[in-house]
Amino acid sequence: MGEEKKKWRTAISFHKGHEAYIRGYKLEDLVGNLTFTEAIYLVLKGELPTEREAKMLDAIFVSVVEHSIAPPSVIAARAVVSGGNGLNVGVGAGILAFGEAHGGALEGAMKFLQENLRKNPEEVVKEYLSQGRRIPGYGHRYYKEYDPRTKKLFEIAKELNFFGDYCQFALAAEKAIAHIKGKKLVLNVDGAIAAIVSQMGFDWRLGKGFFIIGRIPGLVAHVYEELVREKPFSKRLDEEKEVEYLGVPPRELPEEFKRDRR
Ligand SMILES: CC(C)(COP(=O)(O)OP(=O)(O)OC[C@H]1O[C@@H](n2cnc3c(N)ncnc32)[C@H](O)[C@@H]1OP(=O)(O)O)[C@@H](O)C(=O)NCCC(=O)NCCS
Repeated sequence: MGEEKKKWRTAISFHKGHEAYIRGYKLEDLVGNLTFTEAIYLVLKGELPTEREAKMLDAIFVSVVEHSIAPPSVIAARAVVSGGNGLNVGVGAGILAFGEAHGGALEGAMKFLQENLRKNPEEVVKEYLSQGRRIPGYGHRYYKEYDPRTKKLFEIAKELNFFGDYCQFALAAEKAIAHIKGKKLVLNVDGAIAAIVSQMGFDWRLGKGFFIIGRIPGLVAHVYEELVREKPFSKRLDEEKEVEYLGVPPRELPEEFKRDRR
Protein backbone atom coordinates (compact mmCIF):
# COMPACT_ATOMS: atom_id res chain seq x y z
CA MET A 1 0.00 0.00 0.00
CA GLY A 2 1.39 3.43 -1.00
CA GLU A 3 2.05 6.17 1.52
CA GLU A 4 -1.10 8.11 2.34
CA LYS A 5 -1.17 11.59 0.84
CA LYS A 6 -1.30 14.38 3.38
CA LYS A 7 -4.20 16.81 3.26
CA TRP A 8 -2.12 19.95 2.74
CA ARG A 9 0.60 19.89 0.11
CA THR A 10 2.99 22.57 -1.15
CA ALA A 11 6.12 22.83 -3.26
CA ILE A 12 6.83 26.41 -2.17
CA SER A 13 8.39 26.26 1.24
CA PHE A 14 8.83 24.22 4.39
CA HIS A 15 10.28 24.39 7.87
CA LYS A 16 13.03 22.13 9.14
CA GLY A 17 13.75 22.73 12.77
CA HIS A 18 14.13 26.46 13.14
CA GLU A 19 15.00 27.01 9.48
CA ALA A 20 12.54 28.09 6.79
CA TYR A 21 13.34 27.00 3.24
CA ILE A 22 11.84 28.81 0.26
CA ARG A 23 11.91 26.80 -2.95
CA GLY A 24 14.74 24.84 -1.34
CA TYR A 25 16.84 27.85 -0.32
CA LYS A 26 17.35 28.81 3.31
CA LEU A 27 15.40 32.02 3.94
CA GLU A 28 18.30 33.39 5.94
CA ASP A 29 20.56 33.05 2.86
CA LEU A 30 18.07 34.95 0.72
CA VAL A 31 17.87 37.92 3.09
CA GLY A 32 20.50 40.49 2.19
CA ASN A 33 21.42 38.65 -1.01
CA LEU A 34 18.26 38.82 -3.12
CA THR A 35 16.37 41.92 -4.16
CA PHE A 36 12.64 41.93 -3.46
CA THR A 37 11.90 41.32 -7.14
CA GLU A 38 14.35 38.39 -7.28
CA ALA A 39 12.64 36.88 -4.23
CA ILE A 40 9.20 37.36 -5.83
CA TYR A 41 10.43 35.63 -9.01
CA LEU A 42 11.77 32.73 -6.91
CA VAL A 43 8.50 32.32 -5.01
CA LEU A 44 6.35 32.48 -8.17
CA LYS A 45 8.51 30.55 -10.63
CA GLY A 46 10.35 28.18 -8.33
CA GLU A 47 13.83 29.13 -9.57
CA LEU A 48 16.17 32.10 -9.19
CA PRO A 49 15.96 34.62 -12.05
CA THR A 50 18.75 35.53 -14.41
CA GLU A 51 19.87 39.16 -14.27
CA ARG A 52 17.72 40.11 -17.27
CA GLU A 53 14.65 38.30 -15.92
CA ALA A 54 14.97 40.16 -12.62
CA LYS A 55 15.44 43.50 -14.41
CA MET A 56 12.41 42.91 -16.62
CA LEU A 57 10.14 41.90 -13.74
CA ASP A 58 11.37 44.86 -11.71
CA ALA A 59 10.45 47.26 -14.53
CA ILE A 60 7.00 45.63 -14.76
CA PHE A 61 6.31 46.12 -11.06
CA VAL A 62 7.43 49.76 -11.22
CA SER A 63 5.17 50.38 -14.23
CA VAL A 64 2.05 49.50 -12.18
CA VAL A 65 3.09 50.70 -8.73
CA GLU A 66 0.74 53.71 -8.71
CA HIS A 67 -1.52 55.56 -11.14
CA SER A 68 -3.40 58.38 -9.36
CA ILE A 69 -6.27 58.58 -6.91
CA ALA A 70 -8.84 58.05 -9.69
CA PRO A 71 -9.12 54.26 -10.26
CA PRO A 72 -11.84 52.17 -8.57
CA SER A 73 -9.36 50.35 -6.31
CA VAL A 74 -8.12 53.59 -4.71
CA ILE A 75 -11.65 54.97 -4.40
CA ALA A 76 -12.73 51.73 -2.71
CA ALA A 77 -9.69 51.59 -0.42
CA ARG A 78 -10.01 55.21 0.71
CA ALA A 79 -13.79 55.03 1.09
CA VAL A 80 -13.53 51.95 3.30
CA VAL A 81 -10.85 53.58 5.49
CA SER A 82 -13.00 56.69 5.68
CA GLY A 83 -15.72 54.51 7.16
CA GLY A 84 -13.48 53.94 10.17
CA ASN A 85 -11.41 50.91 9.20
CA GLY A 86 -7.72 50.16 9.50
CA LEU A 87 -4.92 49.76 6.97
CA ASN A 88 -5.37 46.06 6.22
CA VAL A 89 -9.12 46.45 5.65
CA GLY A 90 -8.57 49.42 3.30
CA VAL A 91 -5.89 47.64 1.27
CA GLY A 92 -8.07 44.52 1.11
CA ALA A 93 -10.97 46.59 -0.20
CA GLY A 94 -8.70 48.08 -2.88
CA ILE A 95 -7.63 44.63 -4.02
CA LEU A 96 -11.26 43.49 -4.19
CA ALA A 97 -11.95 46.31 -6.65
CA PHE A 98 -9.54 44.81 -9.19
CA GLY A 99 -11.62 43.27 -11.96
CA GLU A 100 -11.92 42.72 -15.70
CA ALA A 101 -11.66 46.45 -16.45
CA HIS A 102 -8.99 47.32 -13.88
CA GLY A 103 -5.88 45.26 -13.27
CA GLY A 104 -7.61 41.97 -13.87
CA ALA A 105 -7.28 42.40 -17.62
CA LEU A 106 -3.75 41.06 -17.34
CA GLU A 107 -5.03 37.53 -16.76
CA GLY A 108 -7.40 37.72 -19.70
CA ALA A 109 -4.74 39.26 -21.91
CA MET A 110 -2.26 36.51 -21.05
CA LYS A 111 -4.90 33.87 -21.79
CA PHE A 112 -5.76 35.60 -25.07
CA LEU A 113 -2.11 35.66 -26.15
CA GLN A 114 -1.21 32.17 -24.92
CA GLU A 115 -4.25 30.55 -26.55
CA ASN A 116 -3.91 32.35 -29.87
CA LEU A 117 -0.16 32.79 -30.39
CA ARG A 118 0.05 30.31 -33.26
CA LYS A 119 -3.04 31.66 -35.03
CA ASN A 120 -3.43 34.53 -37.47
CA PRO A 121 -3.94 37.72 -35.37
CA GLU A 122 -6.27 39.28 -37.97
CA GLU A 123 -8.53 36.19 -37.91
CA VAL A 124 -8.51 36.02 -34.10
CA VAL A 125 -9.44 39.71 -33.75
CA LYS A 126 -12.16 39.39 -36.40
CA GLU A 127 -13.71 36.50 -34.48
CA TYR A 128 -13.68 38.38 -31.15
CA LEU A 129 -15.12 41.58 -32.58
CA SER A 130 -17.80 39.80 -34.60
CA GLN A 131 -18.99 38.20 -31.34
CA GLY A 132 -19.04 41.64 -29.67
CA ARG A 133 -16.37 40.52 -27.20
CA ARG A 134 -13.84 42.92 -25.66
CA ILE A 135 -10.24 41.86 -26.11
CA PRO A 136 -8.44 42.17 -22.78
CA GLY A 137 -5.28 44.28 -22.93
CA TYR A 138 -6.62 46.75 -25.50
CA GLY A 139 -8.19 50.18 -25.06
CA HIS A 140 -7.74 52.81 -22.38
CA ARG A 141 -9.90 55.48 -20.79
CA TYR A 142 -7.25 58.23 -21.35
CA TYR A 143 -4.64 56.91 -23.77
CA LYS A 144 -5.97 56.95 -27.30
CA GLU A 145 -2.75 57.09 -29.40
CA TYR A 146 -0.45 54.90 -27.32
CA ASP A 147 0.01 53.88 -23.70
CA PRO A 148 3.36 55.38 -22.58
CA ARG A 149 3.90 52.48 -20.17
CA THR A 150 3.61 49.99 -23.02
CA LYS A 151 6.14 51.98 -25.06
CA LYS A 152 8.64 52.05 -22.22
CA LEU A 153 8.19 48.41 -21.24
CA PHE A 154 8.62 47.27 -24.85
CA GLU A 155 11.84 49.33 -25.14
CA ILE A 156 13.16 47.54 -22.05
CA ALA A 157 11.90 44.18 -23.35
CA LYS A 158 13.86 44.79 -26.56
CA GLU A 159 17.04 45.65 -24.62
CA LEU A 160 16.67 42.55 -22.44
CA ASN A 161 15.69 40.24 -25.27
CA PHE A 162 12.11 39.59 -24.18
CA PHE A 163 10.54 41.22 -27.22
CA GLY A 164 9.58 37.97 -28.93
CA ASP A 165 6.60 36.22 -30.51
CA TYR A 166 4.15 37.35 -27.83
CA CYS A 167 4.96 41.08 -28.15
CA GLN A 168 4.82 40.81 -31.92
CA PHE A 169 1.45 39.05 -31.80
CA ALA A 170 0.12 41.67 -29.35
CA LEU A 171 1.14 44.51 -31.67
CA ALA A 172 -0.22 42.71 -34.73
CA ALA A 173 -3.57 42.34 -32.93
CA GLU A 174 -3.53 46.08 -32.08
CA LYS A 175 -3.09 46.81 -35.80
CA ALA A 176 -5.82 44.36 -36.72
CA ILE A 177 -8.27 45.98 -34.26
CA ALA A 178 -7.63 49.42 -35.79
CA HIS A 179 -8.03 47.97 -39.26
CA ILE A 180 -11.21 46.00 -38.59
CA LYS A 181 -12.88 48.38 -36.14
CA GLY A 182 -11.71 51.59 -37.86
CA LYS A 183 -10.71 52.92 -34.42
CA LYS A 184 -7.44 52.58 -32.58
CA LEU A 185 -7.58 50.74 -29.26
CA VAL A 186 -4.12 50.99 -27.78
CA LEU A 187 -2.25 48.00 -26.45
CA ASN A 188 -2.46 49.04 -22.80
CA VAL A 189 -0.05 48.33 -19.95
CA ASP A 190 -1.91 45.11 -19.04
CA GLY A 191 -1.57 43.88 -22.62
CA ALA A 192 2.12 44.78 -22.73
CA ILE A 193 2.87 43.09 -19.42
CA ALA A 194 0.84 40.07 -20.53
CA ALA A 195 2.99 39.73 -23.65
CA ILE A 196 6.27 40.07 -21.75
CA VAL A 197 5.46 37.74 -18.85
CA SER A 198 4.12 35.19 -21.35
CA GLN A 199 7.48 35.44 -23.12
CA MET A 200 9.13 34.86 -19.72
CA GLY A 201 7.21 31.60 -19.41
CA PHE A 202 4.57 32.53 -16.82
CA ASP A 203 1.17 30.83 -16.90
CA TRP A 204 -1.88 33.07 -17.58
CA ARG A 205 -3.52 31.98 -14.33
CA LEU A 206 -0.88 34.01 -12.47
CA GLY A 207 -1.88 37.14 -14.42
CA LYS A 208 -3.76 39.08 -11.75
CA GLY A 209 -0.94 38.34 -9.33
CA PHE A 210 1.53 40.58 -11.18
CA PHE A 211 -0.81 43.55 -10.92
CA ILE A 212 -1.69 42.87 -7.29
CA ILE A 213 1.96 42.56 -6.26
CA GLY A 214 2.94 45.69 -8.19
CA ARG A 215 0.03 47.90 -7.06
CA ILE A 216 -0.06 47.07 -3.34
CA PRO A 217 2.56 49.72 -2.44
CA GLY A 218 0.37 52.39 -4.11
CA LEU A 219 -2.70 51.16 -2.22
CA VAL A 220 -0.84 51.12 1.09
CA ALA A 221 0.32 54.71 0.49
CA HIS A 222 -3.24 55.87 -0.32
CA VAL A 223 -4.74 54.12 2.67
CA TYR A 224 -2.07 55.52 4.98
CA GLU A 225 -2.62 59.02 3.58
CA GLU A 226 -6.36 58.69 4.14
CA LEU A 227 -5.77 57.52 7.72
CA VAL A 228 -3.42 60.30 8.71
CA ARG A 229 -4.53 63.28 6.62
CA GLU A 230 -8.27 63.01 6.19
CA LYS A 231 -11.13 63.12 8.65
CA PRO A 232 -13.22 59.96 9.17
CA PHE A 233 -16.28 59.92 6.88
CA SER A 234 -14.71 62.46 4.51
CA LYS A 235 -15.35 60.14 1.56
CA ARG A 236 -19.02 60.80 1.19
CA LEU A 237 -20.72 62.30 -1.82
CA ASP A 238 -22.00 65.84 -2.08
CA GLU A 239 -25.41 64.78 -3.35
CA GLU A 240 -26.24 68.14 -4.86
CA LYS A 241 -23.04 68.47 -6.84
CA GLU A 242 -22.19 64.89 -7.61
CA VAL A 243 -25.37 62.85 -7.76
CA GLU A 244 -28.04 62.80 -10.41
CA TYR A 245 -31.28 61.45 -8.95
CA LEU A 246 -33.21 59.38 -11.49
CA GLY A 247 -36.06 58.08 -9.35
CA VAL A 248 -39.65 59.19 -8.77
CA PRO A 249 -40.19 62.69 -7.27
CA PRO A 250 -41.23 63.01 -3.62
CA ARG A 251 -44.75 61.57 -3.07
CA GLU A 252 -47.26 60.88 -0.31
CA LEU A 253 -47.34 57.49 1.39
CA PRO A 254 -50.82 56.02 0.60
CA GLU A 255 -53.29 56.39 3.50
CA GLU A 256 -53.62 52.63 4.03
CA PHE A 257 -49.90 52.46 4.88
CA LYS A 258 -50.01 55.23 7.50
CA ARG A 259 -50.42 52.65 10.24
CA ASP A 260 -49.00 54.73 13.08
CA ARG A 261 -51.94 57.12 12.90
CA ARG A 262 -54.68 54.50 12.94
C1 LIG B 1 -10.27 50.11 -20.67
C2 LIG B 1 -11.68 50.25 -21.24
C3 LIG B 1 -12.70 49.97 -20.10
C4 LIG B 1 -11.89 51.65 -21.81
O1 LIG B 1 -13.17 51.70 -22.34
P1 LIG B 1 -13.77 52.96 -23.15
O2 LIG B 1 -13.20 54.22 -22.59
O3 LIG B 1 -15.25 52.78 -23.18
O4 LIG B 1 -13.19 52.75 -24.58
P2 LIG B 1 -13.34 53.70 -25.86
O5 LIG B 1 -14.28 54.82 -25.56
O6 LIG B 1 -11.96 54.02 -26.28
O7 LIG B 1 -13.95 52.74 -26.94
C5 LIG B 1 -15.24 52.38 -26.89
C6 LIG B 1 -15.50 51.48 -28.10
O8 LIG B 1 -14.42 50.55 -28.29
C7 LIG B 1 -14.84 49.23 -27.93
N1 LIG B 1 -13.79 48.65 -27.13
C8 LIG B 1 -13.10 49.23 -26.12
N2 LIG B 1 -12.19 48.38 -25.64
C9 LIG B 1 -12.31 47.25 -26.38
C10 LIG B 1 -11.61 46.03 -26.38
N3 LIG B 1 -10.65 45.79 -25.48
N4 LIG B 1 -11.93 45.10 -27.28
C11 LIG B 1 -12.92 45.32 -28.19
N5 LIG B 1 -13.61 46.46 -28.25
C12 LIG B 1 -13.31 47.41 -27.36
C13 LIG B 1 -16.12 49.43 -27.16
O9 LIG B 1 -16.95 48.30 -27.24
C14 LIG B 1 -16.71 50.62 -27.89
O10 LIG B 1 -17.16 50.20 -29.13
P3 LIG B 1 -18.32 50.97 -29.91
O11 LIG B 1 -17.82 52.40 -30.10
O12 LIG B 1 -18.45 50.21 -31.19
O13 LIG B 1 -19.52 50.90 -29.00
C15 LIG B 1 -11.94 49.24 -22.39
O14 LIG B 1 -11.08 49.56 -23.46
C16 LIG B 1 -11.77 47.79 -22.00
O15 LIG B 1 -12.71 47.20 -21.46
N6 LIG B 1 -10.62 47.18 -22.34
C17 LIG B 1 -10.42 45.79 -22.05
C18 LIG B 1 -10.02 45.59 -20.61
C19 LIG B 1 -8.63 46.15 -20.34
O16 LIG B 1 -7.69 45.90 -21.06
N7 LIG B 1 -8.51 46.89 -19.21
C20 LIG B 1 -7.25 47.41 -18.74
C21 LIG B 1 -7.16 48.90 -18.88
S1 LIG B 1 -5.54 49.49 -18.43
